[in-house]
Amino acid sequence: MMRLLVVGASGLVGAELCRRAGPAAVGAARHIEGAATLELDLADRASIDATLERVCPDTIAICSAWPHVDGCELDPDRSRRENVVTVRNLVNATEGADVRLLFFSTDHVFDGSKPGPCVEGDPVRPLSVYAAHKREVEELLLVRGCSLVCRTAWVFGAEVRGKNFVYQVIRHARDGEVLTVPARQSGCPTWSGWLCESVLGMLRQGTEGIVHVSGAQEFTKATWARRIAEVLELPSLEIVETDCQTSGQLAPRPERVAMASSRHPLVQPDVEGILRALRL
Ligand SMILES: NC(=O)c1ccc[n+]([C@@H]2O[C@H](COP(=O)([O-])OP(=O)(O)OC[C@H]3O[C@@H](n4cnc5c(N)ncnc54)[C@H](OP(=O)(O)O)[C@@H]3O)[C@@H](O)[C@H]2O)c1
Repeated sequence: MMRLLVVGASGLVGAELCRRAGPAAVGAARHIEGAATLELDLADRASIDATLERVCPDTIAICSAWPHVDGCELDPDRSRRENVVTVRNLVNATEGADVRLLFFSTDHVFDGSKPGPCVEGDPVRPLSVYAAHKREVEELLLVRGCSLVCRTAWVFGAEVRGKNFVYQVIRHARDGEVLTVPARQSGCPTWSGWLCESVLGMLRQGTEGIVHVSGAQEFTKATWARRIAEVLELPSLEIVETDCQTSGQLAPRPERVAMASSRHPLVQPDVEGILRALRL
């Protein structure tokens, strides 16, 4: 059985990964919350060393990040510290040890210019600081080896902190607030449960390198919000589509990215059925 340390277990993906991995997983984060039962700060080498000694993992899932795309654009130094240096610290701490790393990257490494779905070998061109830092870590882990880099997008699912887009739509509908979304941006919502089952399967098979694990149905933000509202039978929701700046987005983003895998073709179940089953 795998001995899995999940870093960022208080977050959306980390908590789901812990749930799906069961007793094989130990969850850690800076704060004890959700599935995180151990305190760990990847910015602090002593904290990493103490956790590795205590848990003795053979696999470490890095679900920790500062995933605030606009925040990273405003504060690139913080983004580098929290999104790059943290992972480099872990790579250094595991040097010479027989430990596999799993890292979550993003569809934002692409610039959105490809008409069809991007596969793993397609050229990347990150447009934002967040995306550039994600790409830097991808490269670091490809050089390290013994690493699985999972690119995903628009993750949704049950979450203690209730911050993913499905919760935002629910809150806006219940509070009667207008939901402002950027026009012309589309992507593929990915259910956290399916994402985590898929990567756990790949870890068990010993898959390494970059793999795309993302939903297959493409939506604009507005059509995704409408679908959520319809399926969850929410009170009427007013959605306004605006340009990126009016909707509060500072960082450049690819307008339209879909991803598919040429290495591990996977098809996520229909999002409507998933939303219904989630009971958020
Ligand atoms: N959500 C998406 O749509 C999406 C899409 C593509 C890629 N991704 C990537 O998938 C990964 C997981 O995303 P998510 O949505 O689950 O993020 P999230 O909910 O924001 O969770 C991030 C977690 O990282 C922890 N963390 C941050 N800095 C840390 C540090 N220095 N040491 C230890 N823990 C730290 C946080 O814990 P504390 O708050 O306790 O510090 C939090 O639990 C991220 O790498 C993200 O970039 C996400």
